[in-house]
Amino acid sequence: MDRNLALEVVRVTEMAALAAAHLMGRGDEHKADEVAVEAMRTALNSIPMRGRVVIGEGERDEAPMLYIGEEVGTGDGPAVDIALDPLEGTTICARGKENSLAVIAIADGGNFLHAPDTYMKKIAVGPESRGAIDITKSPTENLVAIAKAKKCKVTDLTAIVLNRPRHEDLICEIRKAGARIRLIDDGDVSAAISTCRPVTGIDVLFGIGGAPEGVLAAAALRCVGGDFQGQLAWRNDEEKTRARAMGITDLSRVYGIEDLARGNVCFAATGVTRGDLLRGVTISPQGASTHSVVMRSETGTVRFIRAFHDFRHKPFVTTPDGKIQKR
Ligand code: FBP
Repeated sequence: MDRNLALEVVRVTEMAALAAAHLMGRGDEHKADEVAVEAMRTALNSIPMRGRVVIGEGERDEAPMLYIGEEVGTGDGPAVDIALDPLEGTTICARGKENSLAVIAIADGGNFLHAPDTYMKKIAVGPESRGAIDITKSPTENLVAIAKAKKCKVTDLTAIVLNRPRHEDLICEIRKAGARIRLIDDGDVSAAISTCRPVTGIDVLFGIGGAPEGVLAAAALRCVGGDFQGQLAWRNDEEKTRARAMGITDLSRVYGIEDLARGNVCFAATGVTRGDLLRGVTISPQGASTHSVVMRSETGTVRFIRAFHDFRHKPFVTTPDGKIQKR
């Protein structure tokens, strides 16, 4: 995969983040997502590549843009598969809370799991605990293994978990094991990445979240040497039927990090609202500042990019009512 593509795609997440950030805190998840999708698609189509969306906004019949299978890019240049989420944490953005991101990952064709739009049971850890996790074992057993890998006690560990009723038993068990918990309202891609950043104090992500987000998190963790396992968690038979049609035969398979994101992977994200990994978009009358990260699995390089976008030159702006228009 062309390494320059990594720097090209950060423009894509910047554009999506800029669009969504104009609607931060306005209480309209749908509109914030819509403008991010539109901005991301516009930016993607200016990149010289033959891109194919494999993780996107949903199936073709339910998503007008960036649907699974959509071809993006100028049509010249390398052929790549794309996993994306123009606004990861729509509710976070709509409420002006922490850790919403615009994210994208690219890989050579066939290297991302074509994850169906269902849930995934996940466990994610940073580099020190790589190889120590096993999603088929209990949270307590995993905490003991992580503590051993990190040469500390279970009581020194902090788990991050989506605050959902479905996680009641999980939360009870983690508490019983003696670990600390950070409960989050949304955004498990950012939460998974936080396990690889010692400054966050997070050691492990446990719980069930979106399957597409699982692929994005795995792509990010591949770049920074973390570890991730996932198991699809079905909500109904219809989901299973759709998954079988997508080629998934073993419905209870455990996916390792390489099963989700193989080969050379590049991951980019721009903060929409401020968070553990990135600052959020700040806006002034003259322009807006963005904070992004670009990472590549081939080299392990992690680049943080701060950019100022001068409104006199940016071709598109999101108006307060959520429309994208030329300045
Ligand atoms: P959206 O950006 O689609 O709103 O997803 C936010 C999120 O919190 C993800 O990070 C997570 O994987 C998923 O939702 C969890 O799903 P649910 O809200 O149904 O529990």
